[in-house]
Amino acid sequence: MHMDEIKGELASIISAVKARIDLEKRFGVDTVTLTKSDVGANGCPPGKAVKTSGDRTSMSEKEKKIKLLEDIKNEMLACHKCTLGKTRTNLVFGVGDPMASLMFVGEAPGRDEDLQGEPFVGRAGQLLTKIIEAIGLKRSDVYIANVLKCRPPENRNPLPEEIVLCMPYLIKQIEIIQPKVLCALGTFAAQTLLNTKAPVGTLRGKFHEYEGTPMMVTYHPAYLLRNPNDKAKVWDDMKKVRDFLGELSGKDSKI
Ligand code: URA
Repeated sequence: MHMDEIKGELASIISAVKARIDLEKRFGVDTVTLTKSDVGANGCPPGKAVKTSGDRTSMSEKEKKIKLLEDIKNEMLACHKCTLGKTRTNLVFGVGDPMASLMFVGEAPGRDEDLQGEPFVGRAGQLLTKIIEAIGLKRSDVYIANVLKCRPPENRNPLPEEIVLCMPYLIKQIEIIQPKVLCALGTFAAQTLLNTKAPVGTLRGKFHEYEGTPMMVTYHPAYLLRNPNDKAKVWDDMKKVRDFLGELSGKDSKI
């Protein structure tokens, strides 16, 4: 391995460790151990780890992403960092186009998602699918993931330590997919990705930034099921996402 590659790997490891410590501090967790999975294959965050090695160079960009996502999913299948791995029926890793320009991030799987192993397939999921279609896309055009990949029992809120332990996986998913726009659905996704305690009502409707990627915040579809009067606000937020992607498509032809 060349000196430059070693330096690159070290820089990636240091940045992964810093990100993890920051996350732990934010959630007041002081007893989490850093594992190999927190820095990814070869010590590099996935998505940046596919440089020159053998068969990967002949893969298309999409195939590389599929492979990297598959690797993380397999790693997660054996994850017992928290207790949710014991109570879940299925891991709910993520679904959609690994080349997607738009990636949604929700909170955690519910009962239907736990049974089917796919995010947003219950009532809230059906509403999310309608929201996606309302901006002229298909569900299969976007990527959908959650902060937590295992269902919290009785659909309780995610615990701070569960978020800290599961976040590295979401961070890797985002690094691999490299969406042009993120959309955080609800309080947990928004506050976790933006490192804030601000309420979703004040965060929504604006583009924020997650690690350089524009991120819209909007209400969670499950909230909308309980508060249908706020659908108009989500529609406003999603029109901004649609227009933003539309402007981008003028520059490159992805969407
Ligand atoms: N709510 C979420 O946040 N995620 C799902 O996958 C389903 C419901």
